[in-house]
Amino acid sequence: MTHRPSFLLGPLVLCLAATSPAARAQSADAASPAPLRETLSLDAGWRFHLGDIPPDSFSGGQGVNLYGPDITYHGAKAGSVWGAAARGYDDKSWQVVNLPHDWVVEQPFDPGAIKQQGYRPRGIAWYRRTFRQPACDRGKNIELQFDGIATHCTVYFNGTEVCHNWSGYTSFHIDVTPMARYGDDINTIAVRVNAEDMEGWWYEGGGIYRHTWLVKRSPVHITTDGVYANPVKEANGAWTIPAEVTLANTGVGASATSVEIVVLDSAGRRIAGGRSAEVTIVPLGEAVAKVSVPVAAPQLWSVEHPTLYTVRTTVFSGTNPVDSTDTTCGFRTIRFDAKRGFFLNDQHLELQGTCNHQDHAGVGVAVPDSIWAFRIRKLKEMGSNAYRTAHNPQARELLDACDRLGMLVMDETRHFNASPEYLKQLEWLVRRDRNHPSVILWSLFNEEGLEVNEEGMEIARTMNASVKQLDTTRPTTGAQNRGQLGPDGKANPKNAAQVLDVVGINYQTSEYDQIRAAYPDKPIVSTEDTSQVMTRGEYAAGANVVSSYDDVFPGWDKTSNARNSWEAICRQPSFAGGFSWAGFAYRGEPAPCGWPSASSHFGALDLCGFPKTEFYVRQALWVKDRPVLTLVPHWNWSGKEGEQIKVMALTNGDTVALSLNGKLISEKKADPFQMAEWQVPYAAGRLEAVAKKNGREVARFAVETTGDPLALRLTPDRDALANDDRDTIPVTVEAVDAKGRPVPTANLPVELELIGPGAIIGVGNGDPNSHEPEKGNKVNLFNGLAQVILQSKRGGAGNLVLRATSAGLAPGTITVQTRPCPPPPSVP
Ligand code: GAL
Repeated sequence: MTHRPSFLLGPLVLCLAATSPAARAQSADAASPAPLRETLSLDAGWRFHLGDIPPDSFSGGQGVNLYGPDITYHGAKAGSVWGAAARGYDDKSWQVVNLPHDWVVEQPFDPGAIKQQGYRPRGIAWYRRTFRQPACDRGKNIELQFDGIATHCTVYFNGTEVCHNWSGYTSFHIDVTPMARYGDDINTIAVRVNAEDMEGWWYEGGGIYRHTWLVKRSPVHITTDGVYANPVKEANGAWTIPAEVTLANTGVGASATSVEIVVLDSAGRRIAGGRSAEVTIVPLGEAVAKVSVPVAAPQLWSVEHPTLYTVRTTVFSGTNPVDSTDTTCGFRTIRFDAKRGFFLNDQHLELQGTCNHQDHAGVGVAVPDSIWAFRIRKLKEMGSNAYRTAHNPQARELLDACDRLGMLVMDETRHFNASPEYLKQLEWLVRRDRNHPSVILWSLFNEEGLEVNEEGMEIARTMNASVKQLDTTRPTTGAQNRGQLGPDGKANPKNAAQVLDVVGINYQTSEYDQIRAAYPDKPIVSTEDTSQVMTRGEYAAGANVVSSYDDVFPGWDKTSNARNSWEAICRQPSFAGGFSWAGFAYRGEPAPCGWPSASSHFGALDLCGFPKTEFYVRQALWVKDRPVLTLVPHWNWSGKEGEQIKVMALTNGDTVALSLNGKLISEKKADPFQMAEWQVPYAAGRLEAVAKKNGREVARFAVETTGDPLALRLTPDRDALANDDRDTIPVTVEAVDAKGRPVPTANLPVELELIGPGAIIGVGNGDPNSHEPEKGNKVNLFNGLAQVILQSKRGGAGNLVLRATSAGLAPGTITVQTRPCPPPPSVP
């Protein structure tokens, strides 16, 4: 990752070139950051128009045309585009929005809209933003950076079309130096976003849904994602960072430059450093500087102790520092072994992974950075140690969270395509992500029709070569659901798996043995399995409702519930583990239902991150370092007295004793995969389980029949909110009975009121059939739970008070403190 520094202070129109070289050199030392470049957030203050601007507006004369009114001639010239793309277009009536922004999540559900995209209209929209730059910025390199726009877009800068980006998942950077304006001459960015185009069979949202930046650098500078600083352990056991730094020169004269690398530990202390030989960069050229930095006895990065280091890269023109950037890295070794699976730091580690799309309740795909961290923490709580970015590059901030929190990543590109444009997308992904210690595997595709034949093998071979040019330290794979075997049950000589490092298997559980035998020398991982469906809190099938007993799954893999899938993987000790479908529920692909379900019933956690039964199943299967015991279902079955209720004990203990109202029902051996089940005649009260390991009690868990809901309770995920305009806190809303016990069957409307320097940016309840708005101050509890996402306001001081009310219930109130935290410097 390349840091987006938040340390640059002061009025952002300041000219940093005014800083003396000595002062800059000093600030480049180990103790303090080097303010040699400005990385300014461009998230705030965009104008937004939903819908296309009809072509007849192009003759409306609103654009500032350099040459006159004949748009067919003059509109085709640089600097002179017309209509909503033009510099002077009147956008005053447009809505003001801040990024990240997903307009689709604000649309009503519509049975006529595309099912796989979540039954919401998508469409076309425009964004515009203007800004000024001080005259003293003239001569600098100026770059616009878009981290992600869904889906296809055209970007205009100062009246010139400057970029088409044809993937909703790739970032792109536009060097606008020659077109930039200074002083009172205003710069105009216009973006036309076409979200009619689809790249997937899941919800993709629409809009500028990731961060956007303006970067001002010296003409001689480090290119974006230009630092490759991935530590490697040499054969003799010594650690080195073989740094490669790509430099560019947009100035007019050749530059003799060198690069200094300083490695800082987590306390900011310099622990190693080195300087490259001098390289000359011709005007408008690029060059690569290399320097190998030995690092003595670093602390290792692991999933339990994800220790990170900072590589500070400074470019010198002669003796003057001219550009600097920080990159995070971690010291760890990885190895996929054909016989023994995956090793992290030479220790065997079973990959306990989940596949995930990139949307969350209330916000769609415009996921705040802090929600990424929240989601990774939830997956870790489930015992997961690996995350597959299904089926596309995901936000940089997600990978940062994986680095910080210790989550391994199988990093997947969107398109299985070896044409130059798509290879560029793949290369961008590898460049952006190759310093993340969390990333252990590049995935080149998911379930492609061509994966089974020579054409697919050739595409995979070409893509594989592109990856290897940029990173040889991680293996490649493809998530392949067929074609590894020929009709004779032996290795198919012409299929994608032949040319990739690790054989990826999606489903095909019954072929595990054959595939293993067919590829004796290749490591294997289950790139996708399970496809368990459940509607959270439901225990019987109904209309668009799926029971949560880990017993319903689509028909494409007979063993596809969570317990059987994991058992099948564990019976293959040579496999590196697996990635279950899915960690979190997501909008779109509402399998196994259709309208009115708008979100999937897949996911161990629902759209908000509330656990379903699968969460507890996986916890019992995956957590090794502490006892796990949960009972499913809840114990509120009024009206079913005397009827048999299926009860599951989900545990990593050896035995479980189950009692109802103090009376032992029975003690059972807990199968390590299937665990234990009972049919219990229902009587209200307390159902309690005691798990033992080696004959000793290790855990106790009870579910109780609750009374009626009497009050609302709010529980924030964290106590304090950084007042940087970005930080968020998900708050859980529950209804509790007279004894304060959450009522799992409560389905009540709730109104919310927020006082203080913040905003409610989204609400949700994890009900796949919900058609309620995700914006606003109303939410319904679904089976006892709802979520409200609070976001801070820039510089807001004092506390936030959230109050929730529901007719007939005592209100719930919480106070969230704000914590001073400067927002990232931004473009005014
Ligand atoms: C897989 C596919 C996923 C998802 C899943 C649902 O085959 O790779 O994207 O569609 O099925 O079970």
